[in-house]
Amino acid sequence: MLTIDLTGKRALVAGVADDGGYGFAIAKSLAEAGASVVVGTWPPALNIFLNLLERGKMDESRRISDGRMLEFERIYPLDAAYDTLADAPDDVRTNKRYKETGDFSIAGLAERLTSDFGDRPLDILIHSLANAPEVRKPLLEVSRGGYLAAVSVSAYSLIGMVQRLAPLLREGGSVLSLTYMASERVIPGYGGGMSSAKAALESDTRVLAFEAGRKHGIRVNTISAGPWASRAASAIGIIGAMVDYVSHNAPLTEPLNADDVGHVAAFLSSPLAAGITGTVVYVDKGYHTMGMGVLEQSSH
Ligand SMILES: NC(=O)c1ccc[n+]([C@@H]2O[C@H](COP(=O)([O-])OP(=O)(O)OC[C@H]3O[C@@H](n4cnc5c(N)ncnc54)[C@H](O)[C@@H]3O)[C@@H](O)[C@H]2O)c1
Repeated sequence: MLTIDLTGKRALVAGVADDGGYGFAIAKSLAEAGASVVVGTWPPALNIFLNLLERGKMDESRRISDGRMLEFERIYPLDAAYDTLADAPDDVRTNKRYKETGDFSIAGLAERLTSDFGDRPLDILIHSLANAPEVRKPLLEVSRGGYLAAVSVSAYSLIGMVQRLAPLLREGGSVLSLTYMASERVIPGYGGGMSSAKAALESDTRVLAFEAGRKHGIRVNTISAGPWASRAASAIGIIGAMVDYVSHNAPLTEPLNADDVGHVAAFLSSPLAAGITGTVVYVDKGYHTMGMGVLEQSSH
């Protein structure tokens, strides 16, 4: 039988702080396929996340189909806005949510990984994080600072992570990020420069696939996921309407599940996808193929 087997592989999933987002679902699918999973968590969300775990609030969602629990081998602090600790301004470094965490930069994460597990400790890198301080503002009103912050955290962070973490990936390594079709079609309400960030992320996926493929022999892909009411997506303000719109208008009408994305992520991260790199893979019940919404009186 052809199965997704990630036994003996280690994945880093950057962007997990609760059990409600794509990062968590991907971590679960990777674990289900046999990988061990470490996560990178944004310092402002770290304590709440550790508390939820400790108090057993995620026990239900951590249960894998064979009865095992999803375990995180390590939970590292990570603020992907900073490549090195020196890049973080003083008010961030001394902030109460940051100051006890140690080096929360991308370079700090790379250092912790090698000191905990040795020189090439990873097989799979998942980038599942995004942030835009002005996400509720239309592009026409977004400030330069808000736009650059969105692109820095949501797109450049992938480049920063590939620069510093690709050398830590073993042969056959895979990098995967999450994007959204607002990069290529207008989604009213998806503001703050997030549409621009996703366009950059998709273009960077192709160029990084070439450059890191040649330099490190690794693959780089992105999943264009349909709308899902995660914590980050709820910040957009209209996520409920986006989810309903897609299930009303997509070729497949049952709602998209985060596990649908998790399963494709496990496949793309596995040796079965050895021939796939530089691609945008749609996991959206086919919604991206539509050129017009379905009229009220008909469903076809
Ligand atoms: N939910 C959707 O509808 C949807 C659709 C398509 C793509 N995506 C993408 O999926 C990815 C995961 O998002 P999600 O919707 O599952 O929400 P989520 O809330 O589960 O994940 C976003 C994570 O990013 C983290 N984060 C924010 N700023 C950070 C920073 N500076 N450094 C490190 N981490 C930071 C947050 O703490 C959070 O854990 C994102 O790239 C998002 O754009 C989401």
